Amino acid sequence: MLRVEPSGQACGARVTGVDLSGMLDSETVAAIRAAWLEHHVLSFPDHAIDDDALERFTLALGGFGTDPFFAPIAGREHIAAILREADEQTPLFAENWHSDWSFQARPPAGTCLLAIDTPPSGGDTLFANQHAAWEALPPEQQSEWGNLIAIHSARLAYAPDGSYGDRDEGRSMAIRPSEEARATQTHPLVPAHPETGRRGFFSTLGYIVGIEGMDEAEAFPLLRQIAAWQARDEFVYRHVWEPGMLILWDNRSVLHCATGGYEGYRRELHRTTIAAWGG
Ligand code: SIN
Repeated sequence: MLRVEPSGQACGARVTGVDLSGMLDSETVAAIRAAWLEHHVLSFPDHAIDDDALERFTLALGGFGTDPFFAPIAGREHIAAILREADEQTPLFAENWHSDWSFQARPPAGTCLLAIDTPPSGGDTLFANQHAAWEALPPEQQSEWGNLIAIHSARLAYAPDGSYGDRDEGRSMAIRPSEEARATQTHPLVPAHPETGRRGFFSTLGYIVGIEGMDEAEAFPLLRQIAAWQARDEFVYRHVWEPGMLILWDNRSVLHCATGGYEGYRRELHRTTIAAWGG
């Protein structure tokens, strides 16, 4: 039977009592989905599943998202490696708060990460609960920020002159920068979650590059202020990796951020994204 133990932090729960190595029945999938919507980040310890099982799990949860700017691992269309070699000197990948691919017209509902090679300590992943961030906001601020439309783009990260662009040498990850990263896409800053109806901030400064109807000089200080609120300690869950662990999170309700602290050790995670809910 599925057991769900909340982390005791702002979100996150540990799920046991499920075998992820084979096909999941519909009752188990429904129970995992319900826990995912309630806790936003789920970790499944002690599985050491292979890439076939990671793909089956992703398909059961809603199908594959579309992953730009990364080449997949050999032999797979939908799995990317989040990889850092032991001697790598590049700036850490994804050490900034974000919601995966929020610049897409239909961003992925969720993301799965499977531990392949974890350092003995460090390399935790942080999650910030964006429902909690919105709900804790004073009412006057809610009325000021609640109807803003955010402009998203991948340009600061994945354009040729972005942080993972042509100047980013020596990285072991298969990142593929492109001019296509300059495209923009709008989304409400505080949408209702499409499955639960609960409101929360969606994405943050970085993939958000502006606010509709504001010039840069007005928008950026405001986005910095909002971003600082979104990642306050009281909204954060720190996920500590264990060998053989799979995690799943909801991009519509949390931000996430990589951390370092494992210099001299290799770290590899296999990642899939889950397609937007409803197709
Ligand atoms: C990611 O943002 O996809 C990677 C998170 C991590 O490396 O902890």
